[in-house]
Amino acid sequence: MLILGIETSCDETAAAVVADGRRVLSSVVATQFELHAQYGGVVPEIAARRHLENILPVIQAALDQAGVTLKEIDGLAASQGPGLIGALVIGMAVAKALAFTLKKPLAGVHHLQAHILAAFLTDAPPAFPFIALVVSGGHTNIYLVRAFRDMELLGRTRDDAAGEAFDKVAKLLRLGYPGGVKIEALAREGDPGVYALPRPRIPQEPLTFSFSGLKTAVVHQVKKHPEILGDPVAQAHLAASFQEAVVESLTNRAWLALEATGCTRLVVCGGVAANGRLRQVLQERAGSGGAELFLPPLNLCTDNAAMVAAAGYFQLQAGERLDLAADVYSRG
Ligand code: KG4
Ligand code: ZN
Repeated sequence: MLILGIETSCDETAAAVVADGRRVLSSVVATQFELHAQYGGVVPEIAARRHLENILPVIQAALDQAGVTLKEIDGLAASQGPGLIGALVIGMAVAKALAFTLKKPLAGVHHLQAHILAAFLTDAPPAFPFIALVVSGGHTNIYLVRAFRDMELLGRTRDDAAGEAFDKVAKLLRLGYPGGVKIEALAREGDPGVYALPRPRIPQEPLTFSFSGLKTAVVHQVKKHPEILGDPVAQAHLAASFQEAVVESLTNRAWLALEATGCTRLVVCGGVAANGRLRQVLQERAGSGGAELFLPPLNLCTDNAAMVAAAGYFQLQAGERLDLAADVYSRG
């Protein structure tokens, strides 16, 4: 069964063709980094308008690269939320129009569930049940995943998402956008032990994340020592210290969730899961801690439409069809 997946929840216009929810025939991603870099972050209305320009060429490229025509597609899948409304509307409207004219079923995909299902697009997918840590620009969620359509939220962030913290600290250090990649590159030159930064915990809620205190601590360091901004070595130390605090917080909570549920498998996904230091620490801990770790390759961690097509496949298999009058949603 061939699914055409469409992703426009934030600043990537993406389309992909996936066979049977497992085999990626094509995955095309048009990023808008340069467009938003001058504003230091994603401008929703500009993102939506760029999606409108990109969406049909990106879909055509995905079909061409897969070597299939629209007529050969068995179903459509589009991100329905959470995300930027104006951006989601573009992908969903195109998906609806295609489903309507081709008379094919449409799946409305939960973007975070799609991130988790990216783990099934690899050669070694996880068995159920497993813990999934989704770390993206807008979310930091831990789920207990019992089946494709059975995901229980165990913990989330009470304030900023991990990716958001990377982006905000990058802006503060004047590294530009997108922040995560820039912090990672700079941190490679730095010593994470130089700045003592907090690891916020909420004792009664061990699986709840909090990153705004960490971000504020970085702000205080820069206010106290403004010379950091003109000193690449100090900047690198601060980036490394910040990254280490985030990595530790994510890794510790993931293992708490494994222990609390008795699960032995861990999937880590979403844009921040592309971070090399996070991947390294997770691998080390899995090696010594007896857990089986599933880390999708980098291009399946950041936003893409192959994961949307995979999620859509499992929904359509379960008989779920999106009503052509359904709306998109920003939260959920
Ligand atoms: O999943 P994603 O591509 O889009 C959302 O659904 O939000 O995640 C984007 C987030 C951004 O905050 C970006 O800074 C972060 O992922 N990110 C990284 C890295 N690559 C992307 N954070 C840390 N290290 C990276 N290498
Ligand atoms: Zn995402």
